[in-house]
Amino acid sequence: MSNGIPELKQFDEASLDAAFSQVRADAERSAAEPNLDREQFRLDWLGRKQGRLKAISDAWLKAAPVEAKKLIGQRFNELKQQVEALVDESAATAVKVEVRSLDISLPGSAHRPGAEHPLTKTMNELVSVFERMGYSVGIGPEVETDFLNFESLNFPPNHPARDTQDTLVLADQEQKPLRERLLMRTHTSPVQIRTMLAQDPPLRIVIPGKVHRNEAQDATHSPMFHQVEGLCVDTNITFSDLKGTLDHAMKSLFGSSMKTRFFPSFFPFTEPSADVQISCPFCNGKGCRKCKHSGWIELLGCGMVDPNVFKAVDARRIELGLEPKYDPAKISGFAFGMGIDRMTMMKYSVSEIGLLFSGDTRFLSQFA
Ligand code: PHE
Repeated sequence: MSNGIPELKQFDEASLDAAFSQVRADAERSAAEPNLDREQFRLDWLGRKQGRLKAISDAWLKAAPVEAKKLIGQRFNELKQQVEALVDESAATAVKVEVRSLDISLPGSAHRPGAEHPLTKTMNELVSVFERMGYSVGIGPEVETDFLNFESLNFPPNHPARDTQDTLVLADQEQKPLRERLLMRTHTSPVQIRTMLAQDPPLRIVIPGKVHRNEAQDATHSPMFHQVEGLCVDTNITFSDLKGTLDHAMKSLFGSSMKTRFFPSFFPFTEPSADVQISCPFCNGKGCRKCKHSGWIELLGCGMVDPNVFKAVDARRIELGLEPKYDPAKISGFAFGMGIDRMTMMKYSVSEIGLLFSGDTRFLSQFA
């Protein structure tokens, strides 16, 4: 007989039982082999073309005389179920073996609760001070166009102020027009422009985020750091509003005895511009190591939005088919930007900026 299947000669129940139980014993024997390849076993027995059951169906069921078909059919179905059960069992045994290799007496892996990173904490504190003053929160991408990071912010091409920003540019951008070239944003200020392109005045927004500059890493510098930007635009916004807002924000953060002072400064996108110092929160202005014995700490840059920025926004809005709404004759605004990393380092007495980005849980867990 072909395929190693013996020929059925008698079709009484006893002979059929004997023939089928012979096959079943074969299947059980090979399922019990120590190095059973489960998939091979399944193919050998249940394979649609080459499987033993297919051969049995051909040799016994199809070839049987009509009157024996019912008896053979019943036994064949039973056999098929038995073989399928063997396949399932061998799968279950394989799983059991894996489970047994697990040593349940070993200590489990602890899932320790996470906590806010100190930088995130500082940013959230700052952002919530401004939220309480009615500011909304915005974000923007870290990869920006030259237009949004520089040109619209009144840094004309080749202007020396661009050099102060130590820009990291993306490769292979030279074939594009300058304003479309991509770079790592050097400040969060491009999100001022994104906001004004997307929303009509009046607006008040704070923007926390990462920025990048081509700086060598040392104890206090890193090529990646964090800023929180602010922008307020409405009719009749004045420098007093800027002073009052920042003074209030700093007092909310560091306590009501904190003083602020403003010095003239320069940013291409604000006019006038100022640097803001706060009285040292560690010595109350008396002078200590943290404030280099001056009693003051420099914290942020700010100023009134330069009319050229509003003009660039409206020109772009027209290009985009939007109504120009930022006529500098009708509206005014202020903006500010502060570095978060230095503030955090001061607050938590961290001496190396790199520790903030190391991901070392021995450092981070101290702030949890
Ligand atoms: N973008 C400036 C910087 O990174 C800070 C700033 C923001 C100054 C907004 C004025 C107004 O140096």
